[in-house]
Amino acid sequence: MTTDKRYVLALDLGTTGNRAILFDRDGEVVGQSYKELKQYYPEPGWLEHDAVEIWQDTLGCAEDVLDEADVSAKEVAAIGLTVQRETCLLWDKNTGRPLHKAIVWQDRRTAPLCNSLRRQGRAEFIQERTGLVLDSYFSATKLVWLLDWVRERRPQIDFENVIAGTIDSWVLWNLTNRQVHATDSSNASRTMLMNLEQGNWDEELLNLFGISPHMMPTIKPSLGEFGTTNLFGDEIPILAIFGDQQAALFAHGCDRPGFLKCTYGTGCFLIAQAGNQVARSQNQLLSTVAWSREDSTNYALEGAMFTAGACIQWLRDGLQLIASAAETENLAQQAQTNNGVYFVPALSGLGAPHWDMNARGSFQGITGGVRGEHMVRAVLEAIAYQVKEVVDAMNRDCENPVSRLKVDGGASQNDFLMQFQADLLGIPVERPKILDATAQGAAFGAGLVSGFYDSYNRLIERRQIDRVFEPSENAPQVQDQYQTWLKAVERAKHWME
Ligand code: G3P
Repeated sequence: MTTDKRYVLALDLGTTGNRAILFDRDGEVVGQSYKELKQYYPEPGWLEHDAVEIWQDTLGCAEDVLDEADVSAKEVAAIGLTVQRETCLLWDKNTGRPLHKAIVWQDRRTAPLCNSLRRQGRAEFIQERTGLVLDSYFSATKLVWLLDWVRERRPQIDFENVIAGTIDSWVLWNLTNRQVHATDSSNASRTMLMNLEQGNWDEELLNLFGISPHMMPTIKPSLGEFGTTNLFGDEIPILAIFGDQQAALFAHGCDRPGFLKCTYGTGCFLIAQAGNQVARSQNQLLSTVAWSREDSTNYALEGAMFTAGACIQWLRDGLQLIASAAETENLAQQAQTNNGVYFVPALSGLGAPHWDMNARGSFQGITGGVRGEHMVRAVLEAIAYQVKEVVDAMNRDCENPVSRLKVDGGASQNDFLMQFQADLLGIPVERPKILDATAQGAAFGAGLVSGFYDSYNRLIERRQIDRVFEPSENAPQVQDQYQTWLKAVERAKHWME
């Protein structure tokens, strides 16, 4: 390793925005650039992203962070890429143009197809092969929808030129000047097309969904070589790709069974490391790849909750009850109680442990005295209640109960939410100084592969804790309220049936 290398660049492409962060040799953030991503809602329950915008913003953020920190590509040892998972698209490899907007993981348009597969008795087979619950969350049925759309609307297209991928594949292909069409096994494990035990595209699943193998990216180890980019003035190798939730797991140092973390991003994702064997849940959690290397794979158990930061964003942009996410903390404190209001955050249906694509969001318990701040508080409380459900499911699946919750992600900045979470779970909630654990994980991974960092353990030891929230005297009352929220959830289920 030559000494002119002073940084690692993480590209963290999330649901609500794209970010580039430079990390130095101590794992500290040197600079960052962020751009919020436009959300397209063409119909209720549908959500699309413009893949060209994602690519342009990725490039723009990377250029900006290098410029602002006055860093040249020569000084960057490696790029680590981490992305929102499941969101997928088709593009023409000759023109480089997407054939349709990307369908986002939260999009429910393929619920009828999933229901029909369930009626045909395919759910168990799919779960056995992929570790996933049959749901429109994952990429497979979204790709079916896109292929049908292209067949119908672009009948002249030559399918030999059409290729598919999740956001990592799309951005990698662009970063490498259209040379590399690949993904890593953590992202591939979320498509519902990968054989979880074997780590390759499952032929029977590709057949079932009518997806031609030539469209699919090559699955590579998460930590390894993905090609190089010369778009920043000099060659930089891309040495790690992770699904964003798996990247956060890596950043928290959760590399042994029993270690787990919860990321409060657009959704909320609680993931427990399972070691080198696939772990299967009895309680509706997902089995997934944590990350892989050339000679080994780590697996994980995951509870995916679809709406967390997304409902705070909805309070801001949809309801316009608040001007910024940060306001929610004061409003919730001012409210003092939820005044009997409960919110079910099923804006994109419900994920773990319910897996109800037909549930829809609802406020319940509203009376004349309810004010905006009670609704805001109810939304924050609901985020914590969801996490409690998943922690309970994890406790039923695992030998040792969860005794401490490591958190990260934008909404974990909210002190009210974190204290409420600690009260509700009755265990400490630990928040690190750097909340961008997804980007940090990608940087750690790429930096370790390049030799820029020499020890994973040292990186983890150096991470600093910002605050530990201990359960307070409010815990019993908060735990009582949870029972009422569970009732509200039952009422919001099956809404679209
Ligand atoms: O599975 C979806 C997840 O990867 C999205 O993550 O960070 O955009 O909420 P985020």
